[in-house]
Amino acid sequence: MFLRQRNRPLAFQGIIITGASSGIGEALALELAGPGIALGLVGRNAERLGAVAAAAQGRGATVRQGLFDVRDVQALRDFVDSFAATAPLDLVIANAGILDGRTPDGDIETAAAARNLIDTNLLGSIETLHAALPHMRARKSGQIVLVTSQAGLAPLPDAPAYSASKAGLISYGLAMREALAGEGVGISVVCPGYVTSRMTQAHLGSHPFKISAEKAARKIIAGAAADKSLFGFPYFLFFAARCSIVAPAWIRRLVMNGMRFRVSRYDGQKPL
Ligand SMILES: NC(=O)c1ccc[n+]([C@@H]2O[C@H](COP(=O)([O-])OP(=O)(O)OC[C@H]3O[C@@H](n4cnc5c(N)ncnc54)[C@H](OP(=O)(O)O)[C@@H]3O)[C@@H](O)[C@H]2O)c1
Repeated sequence: MFLRQRNRPLAFQGIIITGASSGIGEALALELAGPGIALGLVGRNAERLGAVAAAAQGRGATVRQGLFDVRDVQALRDFVDSFAATAPLDLVIANAGILDGRTPDGDIETAAAARNLIDTNLLGSIETLHAALPHMRARKSGQIVLVTSQAGLAPLPDAPAYSASKAGLISYGLAMREALAGEGVGISVVCPGYVTSRMTQAHLGSHPFKISAEKAARKIIAGAAADKSLFGFPYFLFFAARCSIVAPAWIRRLVMNGMRFRVSRYDGQKPL
């Protein structure tokens, strides 16, 4: 059964963004900020989050800051509940994420790094979705965006757990979208390619077709407003990543050889 969830673009007034203290999340916050908009911005770095909040307020938005780790489920639920008590929760963007993988001296990732990645990128995003769901289901309205990665479609040999965390989130989002079909709550899964951010600074390799965080934010907002199920950019890379899973292993290896990298330490990787 094919259920079209909505037939007109969505408008967002109450918006929560995790990972809003830098990169794509920061650009999303500033792009969405404006008079009449209530923003809930989540991050761990007080200085950077405060600067984004001030800039969003400067654009006319009211801002509530959530300074906590998305792995702290109670803090996450308390924040979403208190935000939803003061503003209609129209849009939640589960964007917080970290990158880890092959070390600068060439070692593969550790089990601890893999666990940290799954906890943050996969479980943190699933918890964000579930924190928002009761509010949206009660109003029969709302959009949740899961920021995944093309690495979830074309696994990266230098970042196995990162790839797995994003593959898991793609599956979770698409399955949950169908589970909620007809309830008025939409789930959109976005797969960005390379985007300029603190994360890509730590990615020591090539960044083909890299775009700015501002451009990525505009594409994510447009996809959410159109209630797209699965979308990505740049389109050519997204299409290639989607095909890669059915390509023979030797073709995948050939393509991936041009995309090998190492990951330098950055504070996104800090343990709980
Ligand atoms: N940049 C790319 O090329 C690219 C490509 C595909 C997908 N993505 C995805 O896009 C999302 C945003 O990444 P970005 O490129 O904008 O990187 P970024 O500049 O490093 O931003 C990551 C954001 O996530 C937050 N964050 C990380 N771990 C957190 C945690 N445990 N609890 C709360 N907040 C946490 C960070 O907050 P603090 O610094 O305050 O801790 C920061 O605001 C990630 O999910 C990433 O996987 C990025």
